[in-house]
Amino acid sequence: MACSWPPYCLPLLTLHLLLSNSLVFSDPQDPARLLKFRTSLTNIKLLSNWNLDIPPCVGASPNWNGMICNKDGSVFGLQLENMGLSGTIDIDTLAEVTSIRTLSFTNNSFEGTMPNVLKIGPLHGIFLSYNKFSGEVGDDAFKGMDSLRKIGLGNNNLTGKIPASVRELPFLVDLQLQNNQFEGKIPDLEQKDLKVNFANNRLVGSIPKGLRNQDPSSFAGNNLCGKPLRSCKKKLNKRWAFNFKSH
Ligand SMILES: *[C@@H]1O[C@H](CO)[C@@H](O)[C@H](O)[C@H]1NC(C)=O
Ligand SMILES: *[C@@H]1O[C@H](CO)[C@@H](O)[C@H](O)[C@H]1NC(C)=O
Repeated sequence: MACSWPPYCLPLLTLHLLLSNSLVFSDPQDPARLLKFRTSLTNIKLLSNWNLDIPPCVGASPNWNGMICNKDGSVFGLQLENMGLSGTIDIDTLAEVTSIRTLSFTNNSFEGTMPNVLKIGPLHGIFLSYNKFSGEVGDDAFKGMDSLRKIGLGNNNLTGKIPASVRELPFLVDLQLQNNQFEGKIPDLEQKDLKVNFANNRLVGSIPKGLRNQDPSSFAGNNLCGKPLRSCKKKLNKRWAFNFKSH
């Protein structure tokens, strides 16, 4: 036997470790899961190279369109942008691909309510801008997604309040909600290094202290006041000044 003498055993052991490592990180069922996910999409011309003959990733190199790959050959994310896709985003099936950390469906033709991304708890980024999503985003939409850093929901037709759960995301750095129909007050966001864009919604009231240093254009096209926009107290001040004069 090749392994009966120590020097020959070592390479075999190394090979074994390498193989078992790649099995740990890249689940052999993932390609089938991704194909199942594809069945609920429509207009999938640009995903025609997804098939079981080649793996989605070989090391860090993607074989299938729209894959972002980890060095170990597992799928880090889907970047399905500008593809004219519509249909349903089957989050339950994507959640079974446990290596996924980022999802982008930017600039497609998806409609209906926002998919329930909460089912993929460890996501770092979710990008759904430039679609036709509508309806309310529930307060708990992002609850407990402690790794979430970037949320892109801009340029859809979303309504209701900004989901309160964005307040509790400790590492949030980018929140893009512009060009929707979000209404009500802006939640008290206090994350350090956060950049927001809330332009062109139906938001009202004063801008929370934690967002004073944002670019004013991020709040344009709403009914907001306070830094970095004009002061909220103008009317009150005028009346006070008037009272003061008349005394
Ligand atoms: C959106 O995607 C379409 C293709 O479906 C492309 O023609 C268009 O330029 C894209 N728009 C942006 C803003 O990238
Ligand atoms: C957005 O939704 C409203 C109703 O909530 C609808 O009247 C409007 O046409 C929609 N706009 C787009 C661009 O889909």
